[in-house]
Amino acid sequence: GENGYDLWLRYKPVGNKTLLQSYRENITTIITSGSSATMDIVKNELSTGLQGLLQTTIDHGAAVNRHGAIIAGTPRSSPLISNAGIAIPLQQAGEEGFVILSKILNGKRCILISGNTEKGVLYGTFHFLRLLQTEQSIQQLNIISAPKIRLRMLDHWDNPDRTVERGYAGFSIWNWHTLPGYIDQRYIDYARANASIGINGTVVTNVNANAVVLTQPYLEKVKALADVLRPYGIKIYLTARFSAPMEIGGLKTADPLDASVQHWWQEKIKEIYTYVPDFGGFLVKANSEGQPGPQDYKRTHADGANMLADAIAPFKGIVIWRAFVYSNENPLDRHKQAYDDFVPLDGTFRPNVLVQVKNGAIDFMPREPFHPLFGAMPKTPLMMEFQVTQEYLGQGTSLVFLAPLFKETLESDTYSKGKGSTVAKVIDGSLEHHPLTGMAGVANIGNDINWCGHPFAQANWYALGRLAWDHTISSEQIADEWLRMTYSNNPRFLKAASRLMLESRDIIVQYSNPIGLHHIMGTSHHYGPAPWVNNQQRPEWNPVYYHKADSGGIGFNRTATGSNALAQYQPAAREQWENMQTCDEKYLLWFHHVPWNFRMKSGKSLWEELCYQYYTGAERAGKMQDTWKSLQPFVDKQRFEQVNMLLKIQHTEAIWWRNACILYFQTFSKMPIPASYEQPG
Ligand code: GCU
Repeated sequence: GENGYDLWLRYKPVGNKTLLQSYRENITTIITSGSSATMDIVKNELSTGLQGLLQTTIDHGAAVNRHGAIIAGTPRSSPLISNAGIAIPLQQAGEEGFVILSKILNGKRCILISGNTEKGVLYGTFHFLRLLQTEQSIQQLNIISAPKIRLRMLDHWDNPDRTVERGYAGFSIWNWHTLPGYIDQRYIDYARANASIGINGTVVTNVNANAVVLTQPYLEKVKALADVLRPYGIKIYLTARFSAPMEIGGLKTADPLDASVQHWWQEKIKEIYTYVPDFGGFLVKANSEGQPGPQDYKRTHADGANMLADAIAPFKGIVIWRAFVYSNENPLDRHKQAYDDFVPLDGTFRPNVLVQVKNGAIDFMPREPFHPLFGAMPKTPLMMEFQVTQEYLGQGTSLVFLAPLFKETLESDTYSKGKGSTVAKVIDGSLEHHPLTGMAGVANIGNDINWCGHPFAQANWYALGRLAWDHTISSEQIADEWLRMTYSNNPRFLKAASRLMLESRDIIVQYSNPIGLHHIMGTSHHYGPAPWVNNQQRPEWNPVYYHKADSGGIGFNRTATGSNALAQYQPAAREQWENMQTCDEKYLLWFHHVPWNFRMKSGKSLWEELCYQYYTGAERAGKMQDTWKSLQPFVDKQRFEQVNMLLKIQHTEAIWWRNACILYFQTFSKMPIPASYEQPG
């Protein structure tokens, strides 16, 4: 409905009359085979989807006796499919992929939706429905699609008490209190939405959560959730607090090399698998931001990860070990610690360990260069961690489409094996031939009626799933698909609304953290500007640590004369940044401390450019509102008003950012704001 609960699965009637006519001619019967929970979902989804889109009930049948049969199933369960001569495309689809093919069977036009597994058929079903939702032709279909990445996951930062760390969409959707007896319809709808974009794993607990979820009463609840998710092809994972053997096991130590600790984990894992036979594995945050870990016992991250990996290997589980580590023992440049800790461990991790690396070395900034670990650990599968929830990008009030941010990282060249060694090729395993690959997004989902708070935040969940499946899809395509399914196929709407989305990330960078500035948000909550804060006990939590503004200039010198974090990149990657004169200006203040009167490519001084960026960004934020207002005729009242109000807040925030940063930095530059930017009032 209009409240956004249906996400991109609205299945509104096809508006284009000619297309509707052709769809109706080509879709007359649904033929499914095999009886299982997954195939029931396929059947229902086709019925509901087609009924909504075509406004007519499509019969279920068993034989092809007229044009327009939609035949969905695996070759194993469907003789129609196994006899259709599609073995070669099916082979290309692999274990999770699908084919959608137009075929003549018994002299009748049919469409086959197939995969080698029922999960593949399910993904194919959603893809087929998406073709109709986005008003594509379904003549001569010849689609073969296989995911480029094996683990396509959401990481929930949800605590057992239902608060969500960095969540801006209400409380956790997991109601531990009423589980396992009560299955909220939301769990089912969540699974369905994820399956529709190919997500196949979910970590339901926060990386900072305590160990309670590993206790027996909670494992019963976890089992209930796993049973809901399974038919949708989604495995459940849990965070494993490293000190669990002490917290809930009564041991005196959590030392990974201690036999009693190893035994405790072996037994705990055995217990988990009695509840969830296809349990995915653990996600671990260790020795980071105060979390316990192997270094507490002078052991390495590999010692910790391998201990868990050995215990879980007999059950085919995996360990996802996070590389987001920094500590105040390393006050010079937090940028460097993950690389320093992990690169020496390359080649020592067990085959069922993935190291999960954030897209950049600091922390999910509006814009940051790719993390230097990508390409630097060739013997270890590195998994991408993106943040879908907008911790540093305006949180719940800002319209920011994140596909361009994700793509920017994925397309960055690490040069680790020469030109073209992109981050995407590192994480999809193609560069170093790793079979185990993954991409995760920190979820932006809560119990708000529309799931994600801001109506446009749904697009970021959607983008994560689509890119995990195929990182070559463009931001433009993702925005277009999502808008068509979620709002309207009207070309006038699409033109303006997709521009709104595609420019949004650049706009927030401009009015909050331009020219490579970073981490100057309010401390701890990270909402709004606070570049002046310098009172945190940990130096690397102070914005001043990152911008280093003084009378001589602004920016963090990470070259050889500074922290030398640049040395962590390959020479060819380093080259684009290491010289202040030629550095890509997007990252200028990320890597250099630059004099206020430095000549920018625009001809302006750095100070004038900074003013230009902040003023232009804030002005563009204002124009977003005008664009949205022009789209009122195409959008239902409720969602129109929601977005309208939020854009107004965002504009106010943009002005707040601009004024706060310009006035604060001016205390160092001591230069005037160019007259053309001075606004009346
Ligand atoms: C950020 C975030 C924390 C989170 C941490 C992490 O620092 O602010 O809330 O716990 O990332 O990724 O572990």
